[in-house]
Amino acid sequence: MINIQRLNVSFKQKKNNIHAVKDVSLTINEGEIFGIIGYSGAGKSTLLRCINLLEKPTSGTVLVDRVDLTALSKTELRQKRSGIGMIFQQFNLIHAKTVYENIAFNLLAAGVPQSEHRKRIEELLELVGLQDKQNSYPEELSGGQKQRVGIARALANNPKILLCDEATSALDPDTTQQILELLKNINQLLNITIVLVTHEMEVIKSICQRVAVMEKGEIVEVDDVYQLFAKPKSSLMKQFVASLYQDNLPQLILKAYQNDTLVRLVFDNSNAEQAIIDHLKEAFQVSVSIVQGKIEYIQQKPLGHLTIALKGHHHEIEKVCDYLKRTITRMEVIHSYENIH
Ligand SMILES: Nc1ncnc2c1ncn2[C@@H]1O[C@H](COP(=O)(O)OP(=O)(O)OP(=O)(O)O)[C@@H](O)[C@H]1O
Ligand SMILES: [Mg+2]
Repeated sequence: MINIQRLNVSFKQKKNNIHAVKDVSLTINEGEIFGIIGYSGAGKSTLLRCINLLEKPTSGTVLVDRVDLTALSKTELRQKRSGIGMIFQQFNLIHAKTVYENIAFNLLAAGVPQSEHRKRIEELLELVGLQDKQNSYPEELSGGQKQRVGIARALANNPKILLCDEATSALDPDTTQQILELLKNINQLLNITIVLVTHEMEVIKSICQRVAVMEKGEIVEVDDVYQLFAKPKSSLMKQFVASLYQDNLPQLILKAYQNDTLVRLVFDNSNAEQAIIDHLKEAFQVSVSIVQGKIEYIQQKPLGHLTIALKGHHHEIEKVCDYLKRTITRMEVIHSYENIH
């Protein structure tokens, strides 16, 4: 559905050139919820804005339904763009217009006759759960409600694609989840392809099916979201994942186990935790304590995290670590304790 080939975007500055997007090639499938994650300045927004050509690439092509947007005339591009909706972090609503008028503005711009506005706007407001806010002004709405208006407005012209640039970054965690649920429903109900840019791991974890990881203008990894969390490949994603799970290990615990080797294990649905722990106890001369454990669900599939403490001679510990590396999805040594006696 969206096919980006060898895309480059450079911004000419007085002194130096900023190469914001570097040789990016990417395919996003129809009906998919696709995430782009990376640190601030990675080039995420620039890449996203190339999908509707709000940003003009320096080189490369952007194909939407096999049509190369970079080759279209202004009129053709305007028409193609009406099939691509967009929502933003700061909502970008018109303050002096009511909710109704904000949505009508987009319908008018797309040439929808005024006589059809009321029915369409009522449908859209029902879809986003804001039937009773037609006549409110943006300043009378909460952040989550404003983003619902943003979504209704973006869907006004029945787009096939919805681009979301940090759409939940200004919202609290609960409201973020509600908006993500709404986007998921829209994706399923209307079969709209969603491309979502974020710097928040929680966002991609709860909604995306596939994800591109962006660093300094380049895509360093593209994977299914479950695989991305279970077995990250790029050093950036490894770092993201480590900080996500390790930060919640309190100093108190680290201190309590300072004379043990502490190991963090990740289990996907192909390995069972209990069986492996039992095997460690039987097959090696070590004592094993469970420090912390949890199971989360990504795309309805379980991903287990377990931190264990190992005590024993360092030769045995080494053997255990080798075994774990071979057997389970992923393991990291948080700290090791050299017991040579
Ligand atoms: N119009 C512009 N003119 C000059 N430089 C720009 C322009 N837009 C973006 N840049 C630069 O391009 C790089 C990528 O910016 P971009 O906004 O795409 O990053 P981002 O990943 O979306 O970051 P954030 O998470 O902060 O939104 C940055 O170095 C930025 O300063
Ligand atoms: Mg951005």
